[in-house]
Amino acid sequence: MATSAVLLLSALSLFQLLHFSAAAVNGGYWFPEGGLAASDIDSTLFTHLFCAFANLNPSTNQLTVPPANTALFSQFTATVRSKNPNVKTLLSIGGGSDNEAFFSAMASQPASRRSFIDSSIRLARSYGFSGLDLDWEYPRTAADMANLGALISEWRRAVSADARASGMAALLLTSAFYVSSDLNGAIYPARTIDTDLDFVNVMAYDFFDPSWYKFTNSHSMLYDPVNWVSGSKGIAAWIQAGVRAQKLVLGVPFYGHAWRLANANNHGVLAPATGAAAEDGSGYNQIRSFIKRNNAAVVYNSTIVTNYCYSGTTWIGYDDIESIAAKVSYAKQRGLLGYFAWHVGADSDWALSTQAKKSWGA
Ligand SMILES: *[C@@H]1O[C@H](CO)[C@@H](O)[C@H](O)[C@H]1NC(C)=O
Repeated sequence: MATSAVLLLSALSLFQLLHFSAAAVNGGYWFPEGGLAASDIDSTLFTHLFCAFANLNPSTNQLTVPPANTALFSQFTATVRSKNPNVKTLLSIGGGSDNEAFFSAMASQPASRRSFIDSSIRLARSYGFSGLDLDWEYPRTAADMANLGALISEWRRAVSADARASGMAALLLTSAFYVSSDLNGAIYPARTIDTDLDFVNVMAYDFFDPSWYKFTNSHSMLYDPVNWVSGSKGIAAWIQAGVRAQKLVLGVPFYGHAWRLANANNHGVLAPATGAAAEDGSGYNQIRSFIKRNNAAVVYNSTIVTNYCYSGTTWIGYDDIESIAAKVSYAKQRGLLGYFAWHVGADSDWALSTQAKKSWGA
């Protein structure tokens, strides 16, 4: 009797383990300045919500939340669970505007890694998050990559120890990485990533920027005819490097990049451009209103998977319903774990989030 109960229990936890490791990700990032209150997130459209960003304090090597955000962040999980009690929440660390040199220094020494790891677990537990998500943008050198590997495996051990000590479910441990496993010759530690992270958010966007690229383009194309940079090429590189498809989550942008056309009558993909348009294309909701205000033409290019719109000399490459649907279907068919959006506050009446969830299916 006792034995069969134990057997039943271990069968159950094995089932849960398998079940949890295979839980699909319909994810989205949120941040306080993104134009949407956390209480207004339709969390029924998501399985995972990332609350961004906590920061690395370079003098203490501890994780901190800006004082202005402590109330918001500490209530985030309860807030979004009021509409969806099952949604997982992750405290996201770093981000594009945080200082990459701080992460590089912290990761380089065992003592500072320890301090960072311990403080991150304390903070996640005291705020009630389901997990932690590292957005170090970016590790640049071979040494950074080796130190990132050490950080991830030590973090995994600490998260497991915390789960044993607390009797709670282990915190999820995830990271957002560059679109490819190779960042200008610095190679991510793929084996450690595959073993020790629950999943990886692949940032399949920002490939082109009007400040340096003088032709219109999709900044987030799924397929690239000349095979230079694309979401699918990045995913293939990650799998080739040793991160299994079932650990990869495809990033989709809820924003665009806006070019100023050299000639208003030449408005295809790869049309000459003279820089950034005044309209910045920063959020899908703003792009929708740009289209409405100017009665702009909207095009979907299924070859590379992008939408773009133009009016006068303004040209915006972005993801609309069609691109989101095609990318999420690709992620599903390719056997990836799911998708995530940057960022939920830029959606327009939840149109993209709803389409993404629908394309992913049950
Ligand atoms: C779609 O984009 C590709 C790549 O830039 C281009 O070669 C092709 O002509 C475009 N297709 C359409 C229908 O505009």
